[in-house]
Amino acid sequence: MPAPIVVASNRGPIAFVRGADGKPAAKRGAGGLVTALSGALAAGGGLWIASAMTEEDREVAARGRVGADGDDASLYELRYLSFEPGLFDRYYNGWTNRVLWFLHHYLWNLPQTPIFGADTEADWDAFVAVNRAFADAMAEEGGRLGPSTAFLVQDYHLSLAPAMLKELRPDARIAHFSHIPFAGPSYMRILPERYRTALLEGLLGADVIGFHAPAWADRFLLSCRLLDGARVDLRRRVVGWRGRKIRVRVNPMGLDVDALRDEASRPEVVRAAEELRAWKGDSALLLRVDRAELSKNILRGFLAFDRFLETHPEWRGRVVFLALLNPSREEIPDYGAYVGECVRTAEFVNDQWGTSTWTPIDARVRDEYAQTLAAYSLYDALIVNPMLDGMNLVAKEGPMLNTRDGALILSETAGAFQELRRWALPVDPFDVDQTAEAIAAALDMPAAERAARRRGLQAAVRRNPPNRWLESQLDDLGLGD
Ligand code: ADP
Ligand code: G6P
Repeated sequence: MPAPIVVASNRGPIAFVRGADGKPAAKRGAGGLVTALSGALAAGGGLWIASAMTEEDREVAARGRVGADGDDASLYELRYLSFEPGLFDRYYNGWTNRVLWFLHHYLWNLPQTPIFGADTEADWDAFVAVNRAFADAMAEEGGRLGPSTAFLVQDYHLSLAPAMLKELRPDARIAHFSHIPFAGPSYMRILPERYRTALLEGLLGADVIGFHAPAWADRFLLSCRLLDGARVDLRRRVVGWRGRKIRVRVNPMGLDVDALRDEASRPEVVRAAEELRAWKGDSALLLRVDRAELSKNILRGFLAFDRFLETHPEWRGRVVFLALLNPSREEIPDYGAYVGECVRTAEFVNDQWGTSTWTPIDARVRDEYAQTLAAYSLYDALIVNPMLDGMNLVAKEGPMLNTRDGALILSETAGAFQELRRWALPVDPFDVDQTAEAIAAALDMPAAERAARRRGLQAAVRRNPPNRWLESQLDDLGLGD
C-alpha cells in the first residue's frame, strides 16, 4: 500500500474566479510550485491543502474537499483553508512576500529597507496564525488517513508549520521543501533574533528538509549554526536538534512533459502561435517569460538588449524581444514600482533604436498562459537571467516545446543551472555586457550546435520527472514502496 500523501502549500493548483454565469470557475494557479506539484500529484493521488486566496476560493472552501479540477472526479483532492482577508493580507503580502521573499532572494536595499517595527510584529502574528491553521488541518487529515501518512510541506510561507505539526503529532513523518533559495547567515542576521530563531526552529520540526540546488541547502545549514544547540554536519548535510537528526537533501524537480505538451496542443495555444508568427514576421525572436517579479532581473535583461543593439548593429531591425510578464503580488508597492521601471526601460530602448517599422522590445504585462506556451514554440533564444531563483521551470519548459532549436541563456545563479549548464549559455546576471554577448552568441549560433544543445537540454529535463521528486521525498521519509 503506498503511503497516503498530504501536501500543504500556500497556493493551490487552481484558483477560482467568477465565471460568466456568476459561479466560481476554476483557473490554473500561477508559478513554478503549482506546475511542479500538480505533475507530481497527478501521478499518484493524495490530498492538497492550500490557502483560499480569492473570494471565490473562499466560497469553494466552504464546500469542503473538492477534486483537483474543481470537480470530484480527479485523482487528487483539494482542501482550501479560509482566512479573514485582513489576516491573510498581513501573512501573505506582509510577512511571507515582503519579508521572507526579500530575505531569501537578497532583495533589500539595505540603507533603506527593511524597517522592522509594530507592523512587522502584526504581520508576524498573522504568519504564526496561518501556519498554525495549516498544522491543525494536517494533523486532522493525518488522523483520518493513518500513521503512515507522508506530510509534504511546501515553501517559505509554511516555515513554522513543520514544528507545529510535530508538536501535535510527534510520530508524523514530515518533509519540508523550499522552491526558492535560502539566505546565508549574514543575511539571516538582518532579521531580529526572535524571528530568525523561530523560523529555523519551525523548519527543523521536519524530518527532511529539501532544496532544488546545493547552494541553497548549504546556506540553510550554515544559517542553522546561528541556532543555539544545533549541531550542523555540513559534509553529511545533517542537523542534530533536540535529540533528532534532520536530513537536508538536494532534490531538483523537472516537469510533467506530457501534461505540458497536452496543454500546448489546445486550440487557443495554436491560435496564439499563429498570431505570434504573423506578428514577428521574418524577425528572430528573443523571448523571456516571468512572473513580473523583482528577482527575475527583467530590468538588466532589457539593458543587456540595449547594449546588444549598440554593439551588434547587424541585428537592428532583424530581431524582436518579447517579454511576457505575468502580473504578480500586485498589492505590494515594490512590485508595481519595479514593473513600472521595467516598462519605462523598454520604452527607452525602443525610443533609442526603434524605427517606424520595427519596435525592438514588446513588454506585455498581463496574464496570458496560452500565449506563453505558444511563444515557447517559436523562440530563437530564451533568456532566463534571474538574480537568484529556486527552480526556473521556464528554462525547462521552453526547450521541451520549442520547434526552432532555440538557444537558452541562463543565469549562473539560477536554481536549474547545475542541471542545465552544459547545454545553456551561462551569464552572470549582474553583468549586462556579458549578457549582451550571450544574446549575440545565442542568435548567431550555428544550426548543428543549436540542435545538439536542444537535445542535451531535453535529456536533462527528462532526467528528473516530478514523480521521481515525489518518490525521493517518500524514500527520505522511509515511506517509499
Ligand atoms: P516562479 O515559480 O518564480 O514563478 P518558474 O519559472 O519556476 O518561476 O515557474 C513559472 C511557472 O509559471 C511556469 O510553469 C510557467 O509556465 C507558469 N506560467 C507562466 N505564465 C503563466 C500564466 N499566465 N498563468 C499561469 N502560469 C503561468
Ligand atoms: C514561487 C514560489 C511559490 C509561489 C510562486 C508564485 O514559485 O516558490 O510558492 O506559489 O512563486 O507566487 P504567488 O505569490 O503568486 O503564489
